[in-house]
Amino acid sequence: MTVDAVVLVGGKGTRLRPLTLSAPKPMLPTAGVPFLTHLLSRIKAAGITHVVLGTSYRAEVFEQYFGDGADLGLEMEYVVEDEPLDTGGAIRNVYDRLRADDAVIFNGDILSGADLGALIGTHRDTGADVTLHLQRVEDPSRFGSVPTDETGRVTAFLEKTPNPPTDQINAGCYVFKRSVVEGIPAGRRVSVERETFPGLLADGAHVHGFVDASYWLDVGTPEAFVRGSADLVRGLAPTSALPGQVGDALVLDGAQVMPGAEVTGGATIGAGSEIAAGARIAGSVLFDGVVVAEDAVVENSVLGAGARLGKGAIVRDVVVGDGAIVGAGCELLAGARVWPKVSLPDGSIRFSSDA
Ligand code: GTP
Repeated sequence: MTVDAVVLVGGKGTRLRPLTLSAPKPMLPTAGVPFLTHLLSRIKAAGITHVVLGTSYRAEVFEQYFGDGADLGLEMEYVVEDEPLDTGGAIRNVYDRLRADDAVIFNGDILSGADLGALIGTHRDTGADVTLHLQRVEDPSRFGSVPTDETGRVTAFLEKTPNPPTDQINAGCYVFKRSVVEGIPAGRRVSVERETFPGLLADGAHVHGFVDASYWLDVGTPEAFVRGSADLVRGLAPTSALPGQVGDALVLDGAQVMPGAEVTGGATIGAGSEIAAGARIAGSVLFDGVVVAEDAVVENSVLGAGARLGKGAIVRDVVVGDGAIVGAGCELLAGARVWPKVSLPDGSIRFSSDA
């Protein structure tokens, strides 16, 4: 298909710290592969082959992993911002790599089932300057909302309010005419949401909405990251990059789950991990080389590479950094985060952010 894809992957991912201290958010292992691989599989499935990544934070990691993209059947290029330019600035910064008349821009941390062919078709049929994927959500009060008129034209970009007039929100995926990308100011920070879109409306540009209600999730927080990974494993979120069968759990090569251990709820067990008898892992993401001792419980949590859980330890809704040790009998709940390589002695801690 003769459009370019641009993926914005330069954010620092602060809400996912400490996991994002060692890897940028789009590279975090999600259902067995870097999160970005799932998005790239959708881009490829839509028939788009030229992909430009707008990078900043930990920029080198992307090219080291994906190279020229040939393994995925893509042609990938990388543009680095020395200083982060924010979303709009990042889009402008890749302008000279664009080849087609239109570019589809993706936030690199969204899981979505929207029909990209239909999004691009709408953009072309209406002749819009920019077409936004607008997602219908159950609780729009948590987001800014984007109303449209009866022809589908966007009429406003509204801030978060308790009673928004529409359930449509900006889903973080847009088709831009290349000429509109050129019009974004170069070389400085620009927010596409706060500056570019309202500016286009004020200038009378045709900004169109492609409204959709299929699967959509922003994986920016630990809870959402765990849910997104589990949804991919269970086949609820679309991907063609799952390194295994859709099912209740994904156990990667070289991981050992002992008889009597339970792995459920779309959990992923990373390569080389060891789960001892009596342990229960539900709906969680275990990176590579994690060790979980007998009778430990892991629910809706992320365990970084090489993390270790002692006998009978309990972690619920928790992030444990790379190489951290949670001693036997420790209990960590609701929002606790253990920094990489920290060691909590046996039985020492009962932590809950609600306590
Ligand atoms: P938080 O710090 O947790 O809010 O995450 P984030 O830094 O990723 O910010 P946010 O989720 O708002 O970003 C949305 C998308 O835009 C993500 O895919 C980011 O990688 C990307 N992004 C944000 N800021 C920049 C930037 O300055 N440059 C580039 N290239 N991408 C950015």
